[in-house]
Amino acid sequence: MCGVFGIIYAQDTNELGNTLIKGSRKLVYRGYDSAGFAAFQDKGSTLLRKGPGMLEEIIRKENISEFTGSRGIVQLRWATFGEPNLENSQPHYDSDKDIIGAHNGNIVNTEQLIEEFTQEGMTVRGTNDGEMVVHAYEKFYNQLHDPKQAMMKAQTILQGDYAFICGNVNQHQLLAVKMGSSLYMGVGDTFIVCSSDLGSILQFTRNIVFLKDGDLVLYNDSEYHIFDIHTGKEIQRPVEECTINIEEANLVGFDHYMMKEIHEQPKKVQELHDLLENTQSNMDDCIDLINQADHVYLVASGTSYHAAVVGAYYLNHLAGIHAVPVLAGYFNEYYNVSPTAKDVIFCVSQSGETKDVINVINPILHNTSAKIISMVNVIGSSITQKSEIVINVAAGLETSVPATKSYMNQLFAFLYLATYAGSKKKLDKAQEIHNQLSQIPNLLQETIDQVKEEAKEIADLLVQRGSDLYCLGYGIQYGTALEGALKIKEVYYKHCEGMYSSEFKHGPLSIVDEGYPILFPASPADDHMVISHINEIRVRKGNVIVISPQYHGYMKAASRIVAVPDSDHYFIPLTTVIVLQLIAYYASIQAGLNPDFPRNISKTLTVD
Ligand code: F6R
Repeated sequence: MCGVFGIIYAQDTNELGNTLIKGSRKLVYRGYDSAGFAAFQDKGSTLLRKGPGMLEEIIRKENISEFTGSRGIVQLRWATFGEPNLENSQPHYDSDKDIIGAHNGNIVNTEQLIEEFTQEGMTVRGTNDGEMVVHAYEKFYNQLHDPKQAMMKAQTILQGDYAFICGNVNQHQLLAVKMGSSLYMGVGDTFIVCSSDLGSILQFTRNIVFLKDGDLVLYNDSEYHIFDIHTGKEIQRPVEECTINIEEANLVGFDHYMMKEIHEQPKKVQELHDLLENTQSNMDDCIDLINQADHVYLVASGTSYHAAVVGAYYLNHLAGIHAVPVLAGYFNEYYNVSPTAKDVIFCVSQSGETKDVINVINPILHNTSAKIISMVNVIGSSITQKSEIVINVAAGLETSVPATKSYMNQLFAFLYLATYAGSKKKLDKAQEIHNQLSQIPNLLQETIDQVKEEAKEIADLLVQRGSDLYCLGYGIQYGTALEGALKIKEVYYKHCEGMYSSEFKHGPLSIVDEGYPILFPASPADDHMVISHINEIRVRKGNVIVISPQYHGYMKAASRIVAVPDSDHYFIPLTTVIVLQLIAYYASIQAGLNPDFPRNISKTLTVD
């Protein structure tokens, strides 16, 4: 959801362009509707080159590697306000082109501000909300001639959540603010940098300042000052050495990151298993909280919500913990409750930055003492900063926009948590499963090897038919069905609805005609219901493709079965989702699309 990066050196350097390119490449996952690069040079001149389109194309077309200067700002955009065109690409100039700024987030009163600024005689060139932050700063800078005071005033007329970086042509410094969107600062020997993405900084320095909402930073190449944006009082924040392992994105022989990341799943689960074994005290703290809770809400969006659906099943069945999965965007409206000190809000988020989840946490932090636990893939992210206990799913850098290995590690973390909690309660099934967890990496590898070719065949079949489809799931497999449907929509651009299979007869069944495709991830343990649901479709000539361990009941009922290796019922969501990930991948390739960067979306959604 947009990414911004701003770096400053002591003097002009020929390296600026390459540094900005390196920074920008780490921001692509946040948005790829447009990209823009700005440089400030010692003699008081600026360069600003930008436009809609993919990053690499803009880097090449605009010769960004030739940029020189002492300061630079990059922005990658995921469009919300204003269509992706040249004017709306960020960074933006102010009216007389002596200030350049860019933001990440959204300003909800953009329409009013455009009117106000235009009436005041400012030059508003586009309809993008990021430009409004620049003009708000310009408005007060022209009155007060002081960057800090100007930004303090500007924030009073900006409604929404954002992070912002800007520079004035004649001042050797940059200004950054964190107002609800992610922003980190890195302090190097010869530079200081702020960025929406921690990994983009870690490739230059490991000395990090974790900024907090309401921080206003003025920084040059050797020093920085942080102020409370509301009071103007200076704040001290420590520089911390960040030890997070950053992996370089590299295709290592794969055509796409999505495929590479699907193949990394066995290894990442192995690493997570080792990590969880070595950090059991963290799990103990987490289990203590959820065992004592009146309510445990698993709050998440998108793929992470699907992991929460499976996670709730694990916690309920294996540990006797009544956990409820809730869509983050739905929580405040639907539940309309004030969680109490005895409730746990368990946030599941790969990025740790999702605004829908933060919207659930923020009122809790202000109004109640409910406990917040988070399960994330990015330590140091906004959600972890607001959590009492953090479970790291440690899936490593996920470059492909569709989540695959982070979902797998979320499932595994839930399975570990539930079986560990159940074992502590001496529940037999939990103990039995917990002791088998170390076998899962091999099981996943076997699955990939066994199903790859068949997943490709199924994808061909779907593309040939070219219609929409359903992905049904029952019991433990409901989350898998939702996730499979999301992956197919996301990278193949065909409508695929994920549904609880007993609901299918309540209306959707009318869509079925000869050969209508239904994917049906299933566990043999649920055969009593699943076979009925398959039959209801098969007698109407639908094409039901069951994804399950080999099982005669399903072989007889279904049109076809894609068999995953035999395993315990509780491991089946982990194996069968691989088949759906692969079907989605191959369908995307067959349709001539790029599964790594599906149109219109972003990996980190920091807007409402
Ligand atoms: C789909 C996908 C999204 C995210 C959702 C929440 O592949 O990745 O559905 O799961 O935007 O993001 P996180 O997990 O970062 O909170």
